[in-house]
Amino acid sequence: MNVLDFQACKARNEKIVMLTCYDYTSARIVQDSDVDVILVGDSAAMVMHGYGTTIPADIEMMCRHIESVVRGTKDKFIVGDMPFLSFRLALSDNMRAVDSVMKAGAHAVKLEGIEGNGETIAHIVESGVPVMGHLGLTPQSVNQLGGFRVQGRGDHAAELLREEAMACEQAGCFALVLECVPDRLAAEITESLNIPTIGIGAGAGTDGQVLVMQDLLGLTSDFKPKFVRTYLDGRSLWLDAFNAYAREVKNGHFPAADESYGQ
Ligand code: KIV
Repeated sequence: MNVLDFQACKARNEKIVMLTCYDYTSARIVQDSDVDVILVGDSAAMVMHGYGTTIPADIEMMCRHIESVVRGTKDKFIVGDMPFLSFRLALSDNMRAVDSVMKAGAHAVKLEGIEGNGETIAHIVESGVPVMGHLGLTPQSVNQLGGFRVQGRGDHAAELLREEAMACEQAGCFALVLECVPDRLAAEITESLNIPTIGIGAGAGTDGQVLVMQDLLGLTSDFKPKFVRTYLDGRSLWLDAFNAYAREVKNGHFPAADESYGQ
């Protein structure tokens, strides 16, 4: 997968599969999978670091995760998230942040929102860095949105989202994440754009889907929005393994002789 393949997938009506990943060990497994694109999302702040929002993510955190994922992959397309406010500074500071993410090994950056970001996106793209847009529920704006809620409901909000999506394309984004958007609106936006859309909580009418790895694996017991499908009961499996280990240490069955070194 390279940046041109996104357009090709849309032209062929072939869905794009994106998955978040934040660490070396998981990246090695994703590398061997049919997933097309890895997103090193700022959701790392929540699922890897235990924060309640993505706001505490910063460039250092993102670069550490990107570098780990890069070391675990060979040929996956890696998108690195630009963390909260890192692209809302002076242009030179924005570009330094982009530089760090790209030097960490990402092949593209993702940036939330378009209002006030159009010129920055155009400048990043003109500098040779592919930009993935992100509209709808933009978690970095959770305080302004009044919570993690569906966006684009009602005529006015829907029209605004249509205009913003078009503005992302015009600014030069090569793809657009649509998060928590009514399915018909997402399908309509997808139809109207030349660039592919990648949905999360945006129904089946987008050009691709993205999920957070920990959600897909069923590792997050306290959080399950409607749009998440879990493909594994990971939490139970991990818990069973941890308890089996604890049991066997306590009853002396681990380690066995063949798991020990002789003289
Ligand atoms: O940070 C992230 O994981 C994301 C996805 C939810 C799209 O932005």
